[in-house]
Amino acid sequence: MRVLVTGGAGYIGSHTCVELLLAGYEVIVVDSLINSREESVRRIEEISGRKLEFHKVDLLDKSGLDRVFQQAKVDAVIHFAGLKAVGESVAIPLQYYKNNISGSLVLFEVMAQHGVRNLVFSSSATVYGDPASLPITEDFPIKSSNPYGWCKVMIEQILQDLYLADPSLNIALLRYFNPVGAHPTGRIGEDPKGVPNNLVPYISQVAVGKLPELKIFGNDYPTPDGTGVRDYIHIMDLASGHIKALEKLAANPGLVIYNLGTGKGYSVLEMVNAFAEASGKKIPYKIVERRPGDIASCYADPSKAEKDLFWKASRDIKAMCADTWRWQTKNPNGYE
Ligand code: NAD
Ligand code: WQD
Repeated sequence: MRVLVTGGAGYIGSHTCVELLLAGYEVIVVDSLINSREESVRRIEEISGRKLEFHKVDLLDKSGLDRVFQQAKVDAVIHFAGLKAVGESVAIPLQYYKNNISGSLVLFEVMAQHGVRNLVFSSSATVYGDPASLPITEDFPIKSSNPYGWCKVMIEQILQDLYLADPSLNIALLRYFNPVGAHPTGRIGEDPKGVPNNLVPYISQVAVGKLPELKIFGNDYPTPDGTGVRDYIHIMDLASGHIKALEKLAANPGLVIYNLGTGKGYSVLEMVNAFAEASGKKIPYKIVERRPGDIASCYADPSKAEKDLFWKASRDIKAMCADTWRWQTKNPNGYE
């Protein structure tokens, strides 16, 4: 089976490509490298011991994408490509809407032209906003408070409408919670450009001495220790969820939606302590103001994915921190 992976050179895409290749799929990656490096593709091949097809093509380049589909004989698409920084999306909304929405529209058009009916889409727990209760199930209302999140909500809606128009499509909307960690070899991992926005890459750069201290955004939330609680999920568990979703699509399920999380929340302070233990480093931190737009707590009810996909996250925060630390120490400057 031939799977085209948009954004396959990025963080989640690269780990998923390793799992796809090891499971025997033929993999075609389309990535503009706007937020990644081709070195990750080389390392996917190194870890898996298999070759993939790489095309440096932007989704906005319709004829370029069409050429890839003409050659590739694609059976299914996993669509990761998109810009993903919430704060940046507030500052440059037009670029986010253009890249993420228009890029997706071009992809869906080209898929339709080539009769490709199977799609896995990277959505996000961000579509739940500040949920009314916890844990979050897939039937909670979806909304957003920033352009990044609106892109996810809108693309989900576009896919719902495409499915309504053509019920022979098979579409899995996967809502990821907070992906962290790296491949256990330490050869691929998250390689943020500039100062990281997300907690775990930030802690990791403090631990390695690249950043002086962590700023904890608020300790007055209604959580056990006052700091924000999130459902961190190991990137390898997330990657295997995509294989399970592809297997599900093969059974013609129509449009399906799954939370990919562990179901367990950890606070910022718990993550800091777990990382200090895994790395043997002190993580200096200071408490600062809440970050605008942040919510107190967010964690999944992942039971639907467990029941339908036979998928369950199995790696704990020890593994999440140890694998992040191995990647960080082996690659202090990422893929550079
Ligand atoms: P990433 O930035 O590491 O990977 C995205 C990849 O897409 C990059 O390699 C980038 O170069 C590529 N890309 C972006 N725009 C493109 C375009 N127009 N044409 C071709 N390639 C393009 O991000 P990631 O963390 O791997 O996220 C993958 C997907 O998962 C994204 O859609 C993201 O919104 C979603 N997601 C991420 C998280 C997270 O915390 N990392 C959480 C939930 C959902
Ligand atoms: C986690 C916790 C922060 C950094 C974001 C996106 C979401 C999704 C995943 C894509 C919070 C605290 C963080 C720091 C801190 N991405 N924190 N100091 O905000 O849950 O989710 O990434 O879809 O859409 O919004 O993740 O890692 O930024 O924050 O105290 O320097 O860590 O306040 O409680 P978040 P995060």
